[in-house]
Amino acid sequence: MTDVAVRAVRLGKLYRVGERQPYNTIRDVITASARARLRRLGRPSNGSAHDPSTEAKSMWALRDVSLELREGEALGIIGRNGSGKSTLLKILSRITEPTEGHAVISGRVGSLLEVGTGFHPELTGRENISLNGAILGMPRADIQRKFDEIVSFAGIERYIDTPVKRYSTGMHARLAFAVAAHLEPDILIVDEVLAVGDAEFQKRCMGKMGDAARSGRTVLFVSHNMAAIESLCSRTIWLEGGRCAADGTSSEVISRYLATCLSVLSDHVWPEPELAPGNDRVRIRRARVRPEQGEPEDQISVATPFVIEFEYWNMREGARLNLSLHVYNEHGVIVFNAIPTEELVWHGRPFPRGLFRDTCHVPANLLNEGVHRIELLVVADSCHVIHRMEDILVFEVRDIDDSRDGWYERRVGAVRPRLAWETEHLVAIDSTASGDA
Ligand SMILES: Nc1ncnc2c1ncn2[C@@H]1O[C@H](COP(=O)(O)OP(=O)(O)OP(=O)(O)O)[C@@H](O)[C@H]1O
Ligand SMILES: [Mg+2]
Repeated sequence: MTDVAVRAVRLGKLYRVGERQPYNTIRDVITASARARLRRLGRPSNGSAHDPSTEAKSMWALRDVSLELREGEALGIIGRNGSGKSTLLKILSRITEPTEGHAVISGRVGSLLEVGTGFHPELTGRENISLNGAILGMPRADIQRKFDEIVSFAGIERYIDTPVKRYSTGMHARLAFAVAAHLEPDILIVDEVLAVGDAEFQKRCMGKMGDAARSGRTVLFVSHNMAAIESLCSRTIWLEGGRCAADGTSSEVISRYLATCLSVLSDHVWPEPELAPGNDRVRIRRARVRPEQGEPEDQISVATPFVIEFEYWNMREGARLNLSLHVYNEHGVIVFNAIPTEELVWHGRPFPRGLFRDTCHVPANLLNEGVHRIELLVVADSCHVIHRMEDILVFEVRDIDDSRDGWYERRVGAVRPRLAWETEHLVAIDSTASGDA
């Protein structure tokens, strides 16, 4: 049986409203108990951890969160802004104390929380790497062995002897991630690292975290990027208002979370151009999704042909505009990108000023069930995005019972086509000649 790496019991954190205390750096905190292999954080819950009279001016950033993580498990943590994700990580990394409950962590913790923590600004990149290694209790030779890898991962070779206070935010974040991931902590705690850095660096971070998870390290990963969480973590918890709303397999928890955060928005009208989204080149007047036939408010199922419709004002004489739609499913995957190349009248021609309507026809049996959202891009001259709106439409594609064919789980996949299929009986087996008589 594998051992428990993290055990949190009824953790709670009460903050005073409007008073954001600065917390110590990770360095300060880890130094305090650098070599402790087994740490006990906070106090056992005994009901006297806080004074109830302060509750009126305070808010619970985290409440009653219990969690057990086995060694080698990779846990995703998701939830809306302000739901307590970072607070949970800060408690587990000992950056802040819980008000209630306690947590036991066994092993060395490497954490990457907000950019700006973890390094001493006056020290150089080189000195900070050594310091962090020492704080994690690594022998000098091991730190040396990892040094070049860290520097090249972070891509800061030229700045390695510069004090980190002169680093850009991106450089700082890259070094912080490289240190946290390469110094071989038993437990790797990462908050939103993917928000910084370019796509290529994000990919390397994911790869490195995957390596850490595969090599038996325990990983806790907070992100708003569901695809990243799902690919790295088999288990996910969802925090809502500081409490644990769900704990289960990542795909299940993510679907439930996304279904509640996107309220369906299938018809939007902006009657007054000056107040409508857009700019001096284009203004949006209406966006809607409706079934091809029947009433606009009828539900869309996997078997319903439907249309996506946009009305917009072209503000400049002679503009060559086209819309581009990104249709996302609830896992954050772009299921398709639609552009009007098949449109015969206006595509590629200069538009006079005025109101236009584009209608995109989506056939039945294309999208799978679930919540979908559309990002709209308005493009000029086929190459300049002049206006972009995320989640301009959010709609649900329902399942229909008769396509289930006895299968009651949700069908996997981004698309749900009905495909022609033949099965032929090619050779019969003659039971008298099969040799087992
Ligand atoms: N040091 C602090 N002092 C006071 N309130 C705080 C402090 N840190 C966090 N909070 C509050 O606690 C709540 C939870 O914050 P937390 O940073 O844990 O959320 P989060 O889930 O990480 O959000 P995000 O997705 O935006 O990063 C928020 O209401 C926040 O304003
Ligand atoms: Mg946060």
